[in-house]
Amino acid sequence: MLFGKKKKGAVRPRICAVLPAAGSSDRMGGENKLLMELDSVPILVHTLSAFERCDMIDDIIIVAREEDFVPYHSLCREYGLEKVRLIVRGGETREHSVLEGIRSCPEGTGIVAIHDAARPLVSDAVICGAVEAAIAFGGAAPVVPMKDSVKRIEDGKITADIPRSTIAAVQTPQCFERSRIESALVKALRRCLPLTDDCAAFEAAGYSVYATQGDYRNLKITTPEDLVTAEAFLKGWEG
Ligand code: CTP
Ligand code: MG
Repeated sequence: MLFGKKKKGAVRPRICAVLPAAGSSDRMGGENKLLMELDSVPILVHTLSAFERCDMIDDIIIVAREEDFVPYHSLCREYGLEKVRLIVRGGETREHSVLEGIRSCPEGTGIVAIHDAARPLVSDAVICGAVEAAIAFGGAAPVVPMKDSVKRIEDGKITADIPRSTIAAVQTPQCFERSRIESALVKALRRCLPLTDDCAAFEAAGYSVYATQGDYRNLKITTPEDLVTAEAFLKGWEG
């Protein structure tokens, strides 16, 4: 692994956040949800600021649709986001976008932290927990316990109870050794594997992903009601 900055006396790898922000916001109604505001600040800026503030992150790559290059670039300038190195063009699916982002990381990047731009309330603790575990084990992702009971449904009927203790909901940032996740994604895309997230590609390549502590507030803004929930979380933080 290639090494970068020092942390508490020990050398750590260079770490790049890859933020896929090239989606089409269909479930939000089509208008780019990342430019919508929470507490008068665009969602994308909340997300970028979390990584800008985090001491474990050296660089940020944004993956965008071509039509969003100009607005995203303006936001980076307006909010003084100094770790953003590049805005690159996204692909047809989230995984294509992620791969473009990984390929554009600065030379010497040892670990990538892949984070949905649509998760603006990610905390420093969640980012650092996943990054540190990826440095130690090669791959890591934050998880939270399921709150509801979970059942298997077949032909409209419940056919099995799935013990809650054996499952969890997975969030981002999902963090990996850069070369391993790049080759895992290339292989998975070539084989047209149905991928639910980046962990799935990593696991399909035979690697393990370590589960770290997630946070219920690290929600993904997907449908309009998520904006209301996120605003409430933000207000709670501000007291
Ligand atoms: N994303 C991306 N490239 C794609 C699809 C998604 O970079 N081809 C990004 C989105 O911008 C988002 C993250 O991946 O930050 C998670 O995707 P999701 O929440 O599904 O966002 P959208 O794909 O934009 O929403 P929808 O599925 O409702 O269209
Ligand atoms: Mg999507």
